[in-house]
Amino acid sequence: MYSARAMSTLVWIELDRGAPDHNLRELRRGLKKGTILCAVVKANAYGHGVKEMVPLLPSADWFAVNSLEEGIELRELGEKRPVLILGHVPLAMLEEAVRRKMDLTVYNRETVEALARMDAQVIDPVRLHLKVETGTGRQGILPEQVEGFLERLKTVPGANLVGLSTHFANIEDTLNHDYAQFQLDRFRQVLDVLDRRKLRPEFIHTAATAAAILFEKTHFNLVRAGIGIYGLWPSRETYLSTLLGHRPVPDLRPVLAWKTRLVQIKDLPEGSYIGYGCTYRATRPIRVGVLPVGYADGYDRKLGNSAYVLIRGKRAPVIGRVCMNLTMVDISDIPQAGLEEEVVLLGRNGEERISAEAMAEWAGTINYEIVTRISPCLPRKLVG
Ligand SMILES: Cc1ncc(COP(=O)(O)O)c(C=O)c1O
Repeated sequence: MYSARAMSTLVWIELDRGAPDHNLRELRRGLKKGTILCAVVKANAYGHGVKEMVPLLPSADWFAVNSLEEGIELRELGEKRPVLILGHVPLAMLEEAVRRKMDLTVYNRETVEALARMDAQVIDPVRLHLKVETGTGRQGILPEQVEGFLERLKTVPGANLVGLSTHFANIEDTLNHDYAQFQLDRFRQVLDVLDRRKLRPEFIHTAATAAAILFEKTHFNLVRAGIGIYGLWPSRETYLSTLLGHRPVPDLRPVLAWKTRLVQIKDLPEGSYIGYGCTYRATRPIRVGVLPVGYADGYDRKLGNSAYVLIRGKRAPVIGRVCMNLTMVDISDIPQAGLEEEVVLLGRNGEERISAEAMAEWAGTINYEIVTRISPCLPRKLVG
């Protein structure tokens, strides 16, 4: 009898066992000694699978997640290292977050008031990181509100301000980093005020992967690296800026490959239509390979008629629309391909490679979205 898991191995994710920690070490080479490297493992470790990824990151100092639920998952995996929650913790769940010994990002007055109402014994160890809005226009309090916020925080028993942070809006998408400099200046002004009042918290952090690679002055004493630990560059512009700035180029090794198998092969005559909407019509007799993967697995519908997959080290174009659970490819030029032959959607095969960046270009998005949207239901296998 087949188990559900064995049956699901028609589509799977392979994780290169050595790559995540290698990438962490590569990123660490650009940091000064003692800088804390916080591995961002939100969104199911950027789609890689959090329970598989975390054990592959023994040299991460901290972890960062988006939600309390993600933080709890790390604690339930037995993770003892500090866990920083970047997103909003519902007020009703604050007590749970404190009990689970999470570091919390704060940027709402209401959060502070809810902590103030909490039983002093519960709240005792809560570690807070104040997020400053320096120009990204999302989470954070405005610089001019920081002092008032801190005054209130000081009166909350057990609320321990350990961190000050911000996040850059425009490092990845450009070769011009004036706006990042503007944000950094605003952040420094806040830090100066705190210094004058002898309120500087222990952990100061602004840099994600791109800033970590490009600008030492953004590192302070903690860096929150996401995409880089998965072996992906934040953008082509970040890579170019690294070269133009004569910065050390980290050797980032992609962690993830995405694979499937051919589940049907058939020869169709010239003029045949393929898939919903009849968007593809064969201009010659065609051999079609059917793949058991679709947009329900995170294989973007925009990959229809635009992407390639790899079979026996050769590219086969995706033809017709991507369906919910199926995708068709033209394997006319790979006549040796047989039923249940391995197909690489993302990753290496022989001399060829489909990168997350190539797939992102075909789908009109970024590598971050390509990997984070891979279904958490697919099995993850460790290789290498
Ligand atoms: C606040 C914050 N810090 C750090 C990161 C990590 O960014 P990256 O994946 O570019 O390293 C993110 C990612 O979205 C983030 O939202």
